Order: sequence, then C-alpha cells, then structure tokens
Amino acid sequence: MVEFRHVSKVYGRGRGRPVPALTGVTFAVGQDEMVCLFGPSGAGKTTVLRLVSREELPTEGEVVVAGEEVSRFGPRAVAHLRRRIGIVFQDGRLLADRTVAGNVAFVLRVQGTPRHELRERVLEALRSVGLHRRPNARLAELSAEGRQRLALARALVTEPPLLLADEPTGSLDGDAAGEILEVLRGVHARGATLIVATHQRAVAERLQCRTLLLAGGRLEGEMARAGDG
Ligand SMILES: Nc1ncnc2c1ncn2[C@@H]1O[C@H](COP(=O)(O)OP(=O)(O)OP(=O)(O)O)[C@@H](O)[C@H]1O
Ligand SMILES: [Mg+2]
Repeated sequence: MVEFRHVSKVYGRGRGRPVPALTGVTFAVGQDEMVCLFGPSGAGKTTVLRLVSREELPTEGEVVVAGEEVSRFGPRAVAHLRRRIGIVFQDGRLLADRTVAGNVAFVLRVQGTPRHELRERVLEALRSVGLHRRPNARLAELSAEGRQRLALARALVTEPPLLLADEPTGSLDGDAAGEILEVLRGVHARGATLIVATHQRAVAERLQCRTLLLAGGRLEGEMARAGDG
C-alpha cells in the first residue's frame, strides 16, 4: 500500500539553512497492515506522513502509494490521492467556527457527497468515536480528548482505505488514550491500512502494531508485532 525507496527529505533548500529531515529511508507497508512510526521529537515521523499524502515532495528517492509514484502526480491525481487517505493531523486542524458535526460534514461536502447522505454518515462517524451525543457542541466546549475524537471522526468519515494518524492520542492520559487506540484497532480490523506516528512507546505497545524505529531521520530498526514469533 505504501512504499518508501531510499527516500531523503531536506527542508528549506535554497532559503536559509537546509534541514535534513529524512535520510535514505526504505520500508514497505502492506495492505491491511498496521504500522507504528516510533521515535523522539524531530525524528521525521510527521515528514514521512506528509510525503505519503503528497503535502511534501521527497528530495531524493521514491514514495509509492497504491502502486503509484506520487511525486509524478499532477494536481488532479494529488486530489484523488487525498480523497483515499484519512489523516489525523498532529495539530488537529479542526475548524473553530463550526460545530462537532459541522467539522465532519465539511470533509464530505468537499468530496461532493450528496446532501441526503450527509447526516447519516456524519452521525455514524461520530458514533464510531463516541461523540454522537454531542453533534451540536462547539469546538470550544470540547476537552482535549473530545478534540482528538473529533479529529479521528473527521478522518474516518470518508471510510478511507489508508489512514494516517499523527500522534492520535496527543498528550492524553491512559484511559482516554486507550479508547482512541481501540477505535484505531477497530478501523484496522475492518480492513484499512494504518500508519500511526507516535513518540510514546505505550501507544505502539497497545496497538500491537509492527513498529518502525525512526531517529534523526533514519530508520534505525524494526520491532515485530507483539505476539509474533
Ligand atoms: N516545514 C519545515 N521546515 C523546516 N524544517 C522542518 C519542517 N518540518 C519539519 N522540519 C524539521 O525536520 C525534522 C523532522 O521533523 P518532523 O516534524 O518530521 O519530526 P517528528 O518526528 O514528527 O517530531 P515530533 O515528535 O516533534 O512531531 C526536524 O528537525 C524538524 O525541525
Ligand atoms: Mg510530528
């Protein structure tokens, strides 16, 4: 589903000091797999996800998604790619002036979903993350946990075959984080491919995912799924 071949990324070439974010990264994530990108702050986790969704282009190497090299894509192909990817952004990117339901509906509207389908699909997405009782809440009324749930609902509402989740549990404590991780496991169980970036070992452990270790922009190793021989 996703393959990196000798991918390097240097930010800010030609303006100011170049920042090497990834160096010679090679890995593959199969369809239906759940993979954690694990590493400290600055390791390059978000950069990997941005390359997958074509928010950034690699400086070197190839990024292949669903069999296609995404750096060759023009704007239409990029738009099509993004429609097939659900993204939980590290910084949330929720719309402050909309309600809970409004934030989720927005994604469907952008994709041209027929009006009569909107309501049911929004409610279903909210139900999947346990927010269905508060569709009309304002963003400011939500706790940190509520926002994380909403960010997840918004990424899931399009039923994407590939979900990218960047620090989906943020700074949440055990119980709240655990429920969000359960939702992610459910998404994987229903057949989606999942890539989860996290700096918390507990997240990788609770998801029982195959884990790629990133440090200083390099892939330092891999841990098999917990439970695998
Ligand atoms: N837009 C940018 N311009 C310049 N440098 C950047 C940019 N985005 C990231 N970097 C740098 O690239 C490196 C990798 O950043 P990245 O955000 O991918 O790491 P991360 O593993 O997601 O970290 P965190 O755990 O803090 O989210 C860091 O040195 C960071 O400062
Ligand atoms: Mg990050």
